[in-house]
Amino acid sequence: MKRTLGTCYYPEHWPREIWEDDAGRMVELGLTWVRIGEFSWGQLEPTPGEYQFDWLDDAIEVLGDAGLKVVLGTPTATPPRWMIDRHPDMLAVDVEGRPRKFGSRRHYCFSHNGYKTECARIVTAMAERYGSNPHVAAWQTDNEYGCHDTTISYSNAARHAFQDWLRARYRGHGNDGDISALNKAWGNIFWSMDYDDFDQIDLPNLTVTEPNPAHSLAFRRFSSDQVVAFNRLQVDILRAHTDAPIAHNYMGRITDFDHFAVGSDLDIASWDSYPLGFLEDRVGADDAWQRRFARQGDPDFQAFHHDLYRAVGRGRWWVMEQQPGPVNWAPYNPAPLSGMVRLWSWEAFAHGAEAVCYFRWRQAPFAQEQMHAGLLRPDSVEAPGFEEARRVATEIADAPEVEQGRARVAMLFDYDADAAWQVQPHGQGLSYFGLVFDWYKAMRNLGLSLDILPASSRNFSEYDLIVAPGLMHMSDGLKAALAAAKARVLFGPRSAARDEDMSIPVPLPPDMAGLDVTVSRVESLRPDMPVALEGGGNLHLYREVLEGSAEVLERSVDGLAVAMGTGRLCYIGAWLDQVALRRIIGQECETARIATLDLPDGVRVRDCGTERFWFNYNSEAVNVDGLTLDAAGVCRQTTST
Ligand code: GAL
Repeated sequence: MKRTLGTCYYPEHWPREIWEDDAGRMVELGLTWVRIGEFSWGQLEPTPGEYQFDWLDDAIEVLGDAGLKVVLGTPTATPPRWMIDRHPDMLAVDVEGRPRKFGSRRHYCFSHNGYKTECARIVTAMAERYGSNPHVAAWQTDNEYGCHDTTISYSNAARHAFQDWLRARYRGHGNDGDISALNKAWGNIFWSMDYDDFDQIDLPNLTVTEPNPAHSLAFRRFSSDQVVAFNRLQVDILRAHTDAPIAHNYMGRITDFDHFAVGSDLDIASWDSYPLGFLEDRVGADDAWQRRFARQGDPDFQAFHHDLYRAVGRGRWWVMEQQPGPVNWAPYNPAPLSGMVRLWSWEAFAHGAEAVCYFRWRQAPFAQEQMHAGLLRPDSVEAPGFEEARRVATEIADAPEVEQGRARVAMLFDYDADAAWQVQPHGQGLSYFGLVFDWYKAMRNLGLSLDILPASSRNFSEYDLIVAPGLMHMSDGLKAALAAAKARVLFGPRSAARDEDMSIPVPLPPDMAGLDVTVSRVESLRPDMPVALEGGGNLHLYREVLEGSAEVLERSVDGLAVAMGTGRLCYIGAWLDQVALRRIIGQECETARIATLDLPDGVRVRDCGTERFWFNYNSEAVNVDGLTLDAAGVCRQTTST
C-alpha cells in the first residue's frame, strides 16, 4: 500500500477565487487527500429543507480536477442554529443537569431520536449526491465522537433510551425486562435501592453520594452503545450509495465509548494526532517530563494510538489530522521543535498508517481556532510546517514501501475495563488508561514493537508474549483462550476483579485456570507511599495481597508477594514503576527468547518486516547502538534481507 499525505480544508472559509490556487498548491506540495465538509451543515442547509449543494459540487470539482482525492465528512457534529428551534431538547445535558448550549460544536445528545432523524436526512442527501462522485474517494462520519466530553448526556432522551436498554439487557421470560433480575445483579438490596419498574430508573447523576457502581457502569455501556448506533445509522446510509471506504476520526486518550465496536462498522480507523497538546493536556506526565518534551511530545503517546487504531481498523488506519505547528487548546501551546512534524509523520508510517493528513491547510483568522497553525499562515504564506510536509512528500515519493512485520508481543486493550476503572478507580488519579500506558511505555523502552488486541480476541497463536493489565472483567472465553495459548501471559493488577455487573466474584479473583493465585485484599496508596521491590524498582499507587500455591516470583521488601506464576502464566498484583516493569517484562521476554534493547529516554524504535525505524524525540543528538540520531531525527535501517 502506497503511503500518502493530505490536508484538512474548509473551502467555505475562503473566497471562491482562491480555491484553484489552493488546490494547485496542495498538489504541488505532494498531497493526495483533502478532507472537507465535516462542519458545513450550516452552508449545506442554511434554512430547513433547502439544500445548497452548489458550492460543495464546485469545491469537489475544483479539488478533484486538480488531482486530489476528496474525503467527504458528514456534517453532523455541527447542527445549525435552526435545528435547536426545531428540537430544543436535542442538546446534551451535563452531569449537573444543565443543557450544553449552542455556540461551538458537538451540541447534540446521541439519544435524541429527532436529531438522529435529521442526521439520517442530511447524510442521505449527501450520499445520494456524492456517493458515486469519482472525486470522493473516502468518507468520514461526523467528527471526533466524544470530543469535549460529549459521549455521556444526562438528558431525558438518554434516560428513556437507557431504560429501554436495561429492559433488553435484563430480559425476563416474555419480551419484558425483569426488574428483579436487575435488582439482584446490581445488588440493589444495599441501601434499599430496589426498583419496582424500569421506568423508575434514573440516570446516575445528582445522587446524594456516589451512585451504585453497577448503575454507573451500565450507563457508561449504554452511552457507548448509543455512539455505535449513531455511527451505524450513517454508515448504513452511506453504504447504500457508495463503495468508497468509510472512516471516522478518533482521538487521543478518549476512552468513553468502545472504539472497536464503532470500528467494526467502518473500513478505516483514523485518529487526530496533536502530540504537543496531548503532552500538556492528556498524557499525565510530571512537570520535568512535560518541560523536556514540550516541543516534541511524549515519545510513546503517538505510537500507542497508532498501534491501538491499527487494531481498531483491523489493519487499515490513517492519521486524519496531524498537528503542523502550535495548537490553540492546551494549557500551553508551544511550537514544535524543527523536524518534529516530519518525525511524527514518519512514525505514523512506520506503525502502518496509509495516510497522514495535516490539520489544517490554512490558519483561520477568525473564530475559535484563530491561534491554531495551519500549513499556511492566514495570509497564505507558507508556515514552518509546510516545509516539513514538503520534505516528507519528497521522501515518501522516493522511499521503498514500509512492510509491516509480525509482532511477537501483544497487549490487550479493553474499553469496558476503562469504564469500570472510571466508575471505581479506588485511588485518586488511578485509571485503566494510565496503567496500560505505563506498561506500554516500559515495553517501548525495551525496544519492543507490539500489537494491541481487543478483549474479544481468542486466537493468540501468532504471539509469544501477551500482556493483559487491568482487565476488570474478563469473560470465561477470554480466560480460557489465554490459559490455552502457547504464549507466555502476564496479567496485571485488577484482572478479572469484577463480574460483568461490577460485583466481586466468588471464588475471589483472578480465578484463573492453571494459576493458583487469589487476591485476598487490595489497597490504594498515596503517591508518596511507594514500596521497594526486592529485585529493584517500586510498586506504588495500588497493591494487592496475593495468596495461593503458585510460585512467588517477586516480593516487596516488606515481605509480601508482588508477582506469582505457574508455567507460562504470571500475575502481577501491583501498580509498578518503570524500573520494575522494565525488569519484569524484560525477564519475560528473555524466557520467551524475544530480543530487547535498553533505549535511552526519548529514543524509540519500530520494527517493520526487514527494517528498523529509529526516532529521536530528544532536542539534542543521541548516540545509540552505533548510530547518531539528530535531534528530531528519523533513521531507517535494514535489519535483515
Ligand atoms: C480536532 C478537531 C478539529 C480541530 C482540531 C484542533 O480535535 O477534529 O476540528 O478542532 O482538533 O486541534
